[in-house]
Amino acid sequence: MPWYHRLGTLPPKRHTALRKADGTIHQEQLMGNKGFTGPASLLYHLRPPTTVTEVRHLAPVVYEPDPDPALRLRHFRSGRLPRGGSPTLDRTPLLFNSDVALLQVSPDRQDEHFYRNGLGDEIVYITEGSGILQSQFGDLPYREGDHLVIHRGILHRFQMDNVPHSLFIIETPSYVRTPTRYRNEFGQLVEGAPFSERDIRRPEELQTHDEIGEFRIVVRQTGGLTESLLDHHPFDVAGWDGYYYPWAFNIHNFEPIVGMIHQPPPIHQTFQGDGFVTCAFVPRPYDFHPESIPAPYAHSNVMTDEVLYYLSKNFMSRKGIEHGSITLHPDGMPHGPHPGRYEGSMGKERTDELALMVDTFKPLKVAKPALAIEDNDYYKSWVE
Ligand SMILES: [Fe+2]
Repeated sequence: MPWYHRLGTLPPKRHTALRKADGTIHQEQLMGNKGFTGPASLLYHLRPPTTVTEVRHLAPVVYEPDPDPALRLRHFRSGRLPRGGSPTLDRTPLLFNSDVALLQVSPDRQDEHFYRNGLGDEIVYITEGSGILQSQFGDLPYREGDHLVIHRGILHRFQMDNVPHSLFIIETPSYVRTPTRYRNEFGQLVEGAPFSERDIRRPEELQTHDEIGEFRIVVRQTGGLTESLLDHHPFDVAGWDGYYYPWAFNIHNFEPIVGMIHQPPPIHQTFQGDGFVTCAFVPRPYDFHPESIPAPYAHSNVMTDEVLYYLSKNFMSRKGIEHGSITLHPDGMPHGPHPGRYEGSMGKERTDELALMVDTFKPLKVAKPALAIEDNDYYKSWVE
């Protein structure tokens, strides 16, 4: 994101020698997107980041769609997915299109390898657990409720504090950023935005590993996963500065915008990418007009597929929802509160709901593994 940050030791000018104690120089690397014009950082390594000794194709990554094209409201119980595996290599795809893929994993094993997604940015939402996101930019501690934004190409590793651990991943080929309308022409978040720069956490502690050996790197790229071996520890950065690094935003730092009457979903927006937006529904007071109906009215999101990921068991407008439920309300399908929830919301003063929303502008496909956890009768659940 466009917030300048620096850690460690840097030479006063770019592209000049940063000497080590023995008089030799550090190895500079430009890391960013969009070639030489996008957001970028300059890193100063102990050793060249290029000393790869071996490369091999590890596995293909294919998201296979549900063969049934019937358009309907759908509900998946992600809490019932098998648990276990690696935080980076055992992710289950649930929904996807060419702009975004939604995946989940409940890892129980630390990665020994280092991982980078060469296909896109990731928003990793921490549904359960805590730990440290390690990267060449330093340690970024994380906790439940964090959105970890890991931009494309950033080499990282999850060091989990505990199990159970559960991650919900939004993967996109585009650059994840704050909503345009919440940024002024200089990139600063404006007054009236539901969060500010103070709510963004950045790596604060740089770990410089001076180690020779065999270090495994797994890269997600077209064609699947590639494994390569580097002859030294990749987190050997003595200093860096710039605008490209992983960062965190906790859902509980979202400042909900409330109104006299029902406010539309865009007030809950957290981030945007190309072809999608994300939102956070957080505990908040309800509307204050004496006759207001806090639950949403039925609506058809023409040209939008709406995904809700429920993080609490109560959601003001739905029944039959459990922790980890994911609903898909596809393009143009009318949907709204379940029977009784619309009238029943009147007079209520606040909600404790917690949920993420992802709205995509192209239709989403359901990935085959989601069929095993589908509530097949969901689309009929409005009929009493
Ligand atoms: Fe909706």
